[in-house]
Amino acid sequence: MFWNVNETADHGLPRNPWKACVVPRPIGWITTISEDGEVNLAPYSYFNACGENPPMVMFSGGPRPEGPKKDTVANCEVQGEFVCNMSTWALRDAMNQSSAALPAGEDETRFAGLETEPSTLVKPPRIKAAPIHIECVYHQTVVMPHNVNEEGNRVVFGRVVGIHIKDEVLTDGFVDMAKVQPIARLGYMDYARVDTVFRMDRPTMKAAE
Ligand SMILES: Cc1cc2nc3c(=O)[nH]c(=O)nc-3n(C[C@H](O)[C@H](O)[C@H](O)COP(=O)(O)O)c2cc1C
Repeated sequence: MFWNVNETADHGLPRNPWKACVVPRPIGWITTISEDGEVNLAPYSYFNACGENPPMVMFSGGPRPEGPKKDTVANCEVQGEFVCNMSTWALRDAMNQSSAALPAGEDETRFAGLETEPSTLVKPPRIKAAPIHIECVYHQTVVMPHNVNEEGNRVVFGRVVGIHIKDEVLTDGFVDMAKVQPIARLGYMDYARVDTVFRMDRPTMKAAE
């Protein structure tokens, strides 16, 4: 099949295949604080690391059907800080729960039964049970087009200022994916659990490097 996306919204398949065509996507499970000081938590799978020196991350918040920005985006833009918590197999139900569209100012961590702990350099707290936390400072928003809503898709970039890794997921100083068991978003309502890792050295590298 071929779908000419600019010509028609009709892809001819039972469900829109787009989200199944760029996979697996990591899930940025993001804590922020609202203007009123309320904690907010939500998962974003249009999320990735996008730079190294300094480390940077990005996530994209679509508009809500009724218009305004999503709370995570608004909080990052106003308060200037956020934390990306690692979303894992053990935390999958809580991650899913935290995507509920609660009214602004209602704390999804409580709704999902999650404990938080203070971050080191930023105000938004960390999800205690997550094995990795990435503390970020807001860098910039790039507004991308949205076919239906003038608000657009807001791509938020953040500069990483601190990284917590629980000692229990390290093996000989390496982050051990068999211990972390991250989950990733596939298309539709499907997810993957990372439990198989293989290694490939690059052609220019010596085996010992
Ligand atoms: C696994 C998963 C990934 C999601 N990824 C995104 C995303 O990349 N962008 C987005 O706008 N919404 C995404 N959502 C939906 C948001 O989590 C949802 O709209 C949430 O209510 C936003 O909360 P907030 O307004 O507190 O930020 C995702 C939901 C789930 C369960």
